[in-house]
Amino acid sequence: MDRNNPAKAVKAAVETAAEKVTDVLTPDVPGAPGSAPPTVDEPTTPHDPLPLKKEQGTPETRTPTGAETGVPPTAKGQQGAYLTTSQGARLRDTDHSLKAGPRGPILLQDHHFREKITHFDHERIPERVVHARGTGAHGVFTGYGTAEPLTRAGFLKKGRETQVFVRFSTVLGSRGSADTVRDTRGFATKFYTDEGTFDLVANNMPVFFIQDAIKFPDIIHAGKPHPDREIPQAQSAHDTFWDFVSLHTEAQHHTMWNMSDRGIPRSYRTMEGFGVHTFRLVNDAGETVLVKFHWKPKLGVHSLVWEEAQLINGVDPDFHRRDLYDAIEAGAYPEWELGIQVFPDTPEETFAGIDLLDPTKIVPEELAPVQPIGRLVLNRTPTNFFAETEQVAFHVGHLPPGIDVTNDPLLQGRLFSYVDTQLTRLGGPNFSQIPVNRPHAPVNDMLRDGFHQHAVHAGVAPYRPNSLDGGNPFPAGDRENAFVDVPVTVAEAPKVRAAPASFDDHFSQARLFWLSMSPVEREHIIRAYTFELGKCYRQEIRERQLRCLANIDPVLCAQVAAGLGLPAPEPTVPLADVQPSPALSQVGREWPADGRMVGIVVDPDGDLDDVAQVRMAVFSAGMVPLLIGPHGGAVRGTPVQRSFATARSVEFDAILLAGAPAPAPDALPARDAKAGAAGSETVDPRVLLLVEEAWRHAKAIGAWGAGAEVLRQAGVAGTPGVVSGDSGGDVLADVQSLMAAHRVWQRFPASVG
Ligand code: HEM
Repeated sequence: MDRNNPAKAVKAAVETAAEKVTDVLTPDVPGAPGSAPPTVDEPTTPHDPLPLKKEQGTPETRTPTGAETGVPPTAKGQQGAYLTTSQGARLRDTDHSLKAGPRGPILLQDHHFREKITHFDHERIPERVVHARGTGAHGVFTGYGTAEPLTRAGFLKKGRETQVFVRFSTVLGSRGSADTVRDTRGFATKFYTDEGTFDLVANNMPVFFIQDAIKFPDIIHAGKPHPDREIPQAQSAHDTFWDFVSLHTEAQHHTMWNMSDRGIPRSYRTMEGFGVHTFRLVNDAGETVLVKFHWKPKLGVHSLVWEEAQLINGVDPDFHRRDLYDAIEAGAYPEWELGIQVFPDTPEETFAGIDLLDPTKIVPEELAPVQPIGRLVLNRTPTNFFAETEQVAFHVGHLPPGIDVTNDPLLQGRLFSYVDTQLTRLGGPNFSQIPVNRPHAPVNDMLRDGFHQHAVHAGVAPYRPNSLDGGNPFPAGDRENAFVDVPVTVAEAPKVRAAPASFDDHFSQARLFWLSMSPVEREHIIRAYTFELGKCYRQEIRERQLRCLANIDPVLCAQVAAGLGLPAPEPTVPLADVQPSPALSQVGREWPADGRMVGIVVDPDGDLDDVAQVRMAVFSAGMVPLLIGPHGGAVRGTPVQRSFATARSVEFDAILLAGAPAPAPDALPARDAKAGAAGSETVDPRVLLLVEEAWRHAKAIGAWGAGAEVLRQAGVAGTPGVVSGDSGGDVLADVQSLMAAHRVWQRFPASVG
């Protein structure tokens, strides 16, 4: 680059970027808006709305009462070529209000102006009080039949396919908050079964902060931003959160999960899901078992590293949303197996000494293996985010025949809360008639009227018993597959505000979790506690939380205390003697790399022969290649998706270096802070930063040809997980095998065993 004359150099670069892109991107890199490329000039010939993008789906076209309509899904969307009012009258102009002369005031009679502005003024609805930030997708669930002996639920029968809508979410943040904050994730699934809708309203952690739903406002008020300044957004690293969890010690187990890598998932596709509570299944013979539901991701459970998560919050706050939608668009359909842990339905409702009604406890998989009962595939993105993802309404009380609740006091309270909040959020009692919430089973309730009634109910007798409507609707008996509330015996007991004594153990399972982690995962937990408590203002709160950690594990407590510059307190209860559960660790196995992002750095002056082949090989491996060049557009006819200015390492799971590109014309510290990152005269500083960060985040890195020079200058050549070779194909193969283990943890030897 001509460093003495940057303007000239930039001009030259712009000319190069303007090279005609002759290559058609096949297959497409996901993410393009709209289903057809736009024209540069404004289109003026009227035509019907464009078709949906190929990966988009919408809720089935059902009537508000569950009947199939046979009309195409697009019938729910806009119709015809011409702009109309909401009543369908065609409009000639929407750019000018009706005025008394071009310079005069707007006339009250301008019905189009009033309709347009009034509707806009009312576009917003309240966001969810928790889980406001979320992302949905459509899919299909297929039963394996393995649960048939245990439950009469038809959707679990062998080969039975059921449409689903899944919404993933964070808990604490507002609707516009960032995706990769440290938090619990929601994993809510709506199964549109032909026996009524089943909602499995799950999280990515198998335990909860509290044992009784009456404490939900307390934990959420503590976790949300402080009421005076309304900061921090979507974080637990603040005084009120740690104040509460250090005093209300039943929260310690869940808090440990949040401080672990589970609190910062790599992707929604790489999260487990847990129904948390124990549910009751009932079969045709009326026999019951107790179960816990688990979602197991096909790609394994993977997380970000903390610095990476923090960078992503700025670089791409929609990271998880984009990842889910891009993966579906690329055909790398996210997949999970639904499994159950099964326990005998005994009067004590315990298993291996663990109280099954205590939602702060797990049953280790080594004691009760997870038995697969079906498969979930997400294969369609929503057509309209608001209509589907915002308006979907989940409820733990949406249960089909064959699945029932237990007396878990957290679940009991949830049975009240969801519909109650949705009455306000969705503006009335008829939200089950919104397209995404419409059941796929015939609906014949006796609920009537209310705001936004979409059904046109016939008859005169919405009451029972009646004779005027011929007795319809009739109660169903067992043979007509009615939902049966399992007649569980409730022991005679005094009416009390109290919990059972077994709920008093708050530390043993937090210790079990800690002891089940690999050394690298323990390092992350120590760092997370140290970071979060370090962000608290009040020393008293740090000291109090250290007392809790002392009751969990002395090494953990001592390490966090050292980071905080405080003495480690002694435990106040005996340390629990627990068996670790290796199934809780995320590290140490190998997984498929479907849908992973591979960044390929290209050098316009280098050898590009290999690049096209490597790119196709990445696609063939089910991953997404993004070419990174010195400028946007194309590099010697090869289209690039990222420039050195727009790329950041956190977007990629692995980096390939097909050359050692010289500093690009815009590598000017005055223009891009990243250009001040390294002081090389021969390699673009943004490329060196890319490699340094990818290395720090334990990602696989590969280079061939001149690319080896980048490794040398970044100081990473010859270190674990950094490969170089003569051809792109060989290097990609090595990088792929490194990616199977998710990250190259060997770069960071652990200090705790
Ligand atoms: C095991 C414990 C819990 C789990 C797994 C859980 C899970 C979830 C999930 C996944 C969502 C988001 C649903 C969506 O995507 O629309 C959600 C929302 C919500 N949860 Fe929970 N939750 C738990 C406990 C509670 C408790 C104890 C309460 C109240 C007593 C509660 C009240 C709510 C409310 C009010 C919403 C917002 C619902 C809406 O606006 O549609 N949750 N919960």
